[in-house]
Amino acid sequence: MDVQKLLCKTLREKPETKRASRKMGAIDFSKLIRMGLNENAFGVSPKAIEAMNAIAPEGNFYQDWSQADLKGAIGEHYGVTPEFIVTGCGSSALTDALGTAFLEPGDEMILEMPTFPAIIDTAQMNGATPVVVDMGEDLTYDMDKLLAAITEKTKMVYICNPNNPTGTYVPKDKLMEFARKCPDHVIQVYDEAYIEFAEAEDCLEMVDAMKEMPEKPIVLLKTFSKFYGMAGIRCGYILAQPEIVEWLSKCGTQFAISKVSQAGAAAAMRDKEHCEFVKKEVARCRKYLATEMQKLGCKLYPSQTNFIFFQPGEGIDPTLVFGKMMERGIMISAQAGANRVSIGKMEHCELYIKYLAEILDELRK
Ligand SMILES: Cc1ncc(COP(=O)(O)O)c(C=O)c1O
Repeated sequence: MDVQKLLCKTLREKPETKRASRKMGAIDFSKLIRMGLNENAFGVSPKAIEAMNAIAPEGNFYQDWSQADLKGAIGEHYGVTPEFIVTGCGSSALTDALGTAFLEPGDEMILEMPTFPAIIDTAQMNGATPVVVDMGEDLTYDMDKLLAAITEKTKMVYICNPNNPTGTYVPKDKLMEFARKCPDHVIQVYDEAYIEFAEAEDCLEMVDAMKEMPEKPIVLLKTFSKFYGMAGIRCGYILAQPEIVEWLSKCGTQFAISKVSQAGAAAAMRDKEHCEFVKKEVARCRKYLATEMQKLGCKLYPSQTNFIFFQPGEGIDPTLVFGKMMERGIMISAQAGANRVSIGKMEHCELYIKYLAEILDELRK
């Protein structure tokens, strides 16, 4: 079979993906302490587990297509009605839907690097051209550069706030200024996958921008994978104006998430006690890791997320740090010329610091 001949042109000509998850192959995760994928080490809400267990025996019946309970929970949280919400199997599926609905050959999509590379795939899968702007040396967004890169061909601009993998953020007033200045023909996508972890007073969601500027195509990408600890349950959502939601609902998202996902996600969002616990534990462990890594001579980028991006030290190759950490049973990540460690439980953070000290000693010799 010559599958190349069967493939559509955009996929046949698409450059190789940069997504780490597609390159991992057969890693035996069961033997690893997972501090490499920005998962939530503090677990699923007990109330969500209860809700998922309760609904599982009804799995022979299709789910609630109106998603009344889940959209109700999201709506209560953000003060929006269901017409402003579309759900999907993780925010990744919704990113794909954005591409299907809005991108086509000739369009440009602007992003700053380093960021979450899935959005590049989305552009390329739909024949659009990713236009990459480099972040400044402190690895924060340069909003002026982003604005200056916009042309008549720009269909979409992607802003990850706080950003993966850097952990850095754009203050709300700067984002609002950008949102106002961004021309109406450009879809502004704010990926807020990690924003619930943020502690800085000016690291804030853009939901009010979406409500206050209905003439602007503003899209907020949200997920239950990170703060709500449900990466494997696969549930995400978009908040946007109803006319955008309506079209996204026609792109394979509408009936995608299972009734187990719906029940779990709704219960997780309403479980304020677990949310508070997660936020406090992540902040405590992040502070411990930051202090100890600085003592070991690493250069850290300030993080508002459940991970820390860092340079291991002058002349030290981040991929060697990654490899030596894997040999010891802890998975972190090496990307964009640095390392990224996701916040684990305190006992795992302590073990990681012990290993990091050994590894840096070895590599400095
Ligand atoms: C910035 C960002 N957006 C989206 C996602 C994907 O989230 P989901 O699991 O909801 O597809 C990730 C996952 O790592 C991420 O880092």
